[in-house]
Amino acid sequence: LRSDAKVLIVEDNIVNLKIVQNILNKIFDDVLTAKTGNECLDLVKNSDVDLILLDVGLLDINGFEVARKIKRINSLKSIPIIFITSDSSYESIEKGFEVGCVDYIKKPINAKELTARVKTHVELKLANDQLVEYKDHLEVEISNTIKEIKNLNNEIEDTQREVIFTMGAIGESRSKETGNHVKRVAEYSYLLAILYGLDENEAKLLKEASPMHDIGKVAIPDSILNKPAKLTEDEFTTMKTHAKLGYNMLAHSKRPILKAAAIIAHEHHEKYNGTGYPRKLTGEDIHIYGRITAVADVFDALGSDRCYKKAWELDKILNLFQEERAKHFDPKLVDIFIENLDSFLEIRDKFKD
Ligand SMILES: [Fe+2]
Ligand SMILES: [Fe+2]
Repeated sequence: LRSDAKVLIVEDNIVNLKIVQNILNKIFDDVLTAKTGNECLDLVKNSDVDLILLDVGLLDINGFEVARKIKRINSLKSIPIIFITSDSSYESIEKGFEVGCVDYIKKPINAKELTARVKTHVELKLANDQLVEYKDHLEVEISNTIKEIKNLNNEIEDTQREVIFTMGAIGESRSKETGNHVKRVAEYSYLLAILYGLDENEAKLLKEASPMHDIGKVAIPDSILNKPAKLTEDEFTTMKTHAKLGYNMLAHSKRPILKAAAIIAHEHHEKYNGTGYPRKLTGEDIHIYGRITAVADVFDALGSDRCYKKAWELDKILNLFQEERAKHFDPKLVDIFIENLDSFLEIRDKFKD
């Protein structure tokens, strides 16, 4: 037991006070005393008391009332109170426990009994203090660690997004696409996904991954990518390999964004009627990401100048989509696109080259 624990004796009878004090002085370095209830309240508020020995028959305030007051104060309620009473009736003892005392000692005081009870409760109090301190410390540690993990997580996600967007931009610059092509494709894809009924998370994933749809073009020769005329059949065959090439670049990853990007790179040139490439998939065998990116990519490509053609007028573009409904494109997506054309045109305006 620590001899520097602070015990407070509250007793208005000088003789009794001395008796208790003498017993406790054998265990503790420093024993505090108070002669009235008010003095006791002042003392506990201003010093770190570990235990109170409280005489019930005080002159100013009844001892039970003093105990009740202490137990109502949050910072003090963990101090154990042992009450001293000459009234050993059950009513009196019950009252002591009712107001929050932990134990009681009967007068006349027996030194051994007093010593044993005080020691037990001081030890309990100190052990409890340590536990509380440890718990507070742990809580701070845990909340700091959680904060750190969250920061790291955000950092990783931001990095992923940036790297993916940059990769998309690299692919774009290689194929001399117009400046904001991948940005617009990302926005159109997101909007189509939401309107089609994908959930917010999936729509976001698609938006973040779709800039990579042409990443495979980094492996296509410049002479083909930038040819200012129609490609020969051989050249077109080479060009078409960009879908599979892009897929191969990304397919190894377990990251959701890269997995989505792999699907998009692989399937953005598939056609609903099975005449696309590289696998000639049909209908809903083409992943929804591929079907959506196909609409977004073609809509944007037709509306922009390219090295081999001028931008098309809107009417002509819409005619093509109607014509290719259920041929090149998922009919549901074409309907959604036409119905919400204004929103798509807004995006086109916002991210003009
Ligand atoms: Fe492509
Ligand atoms: Fe594209």
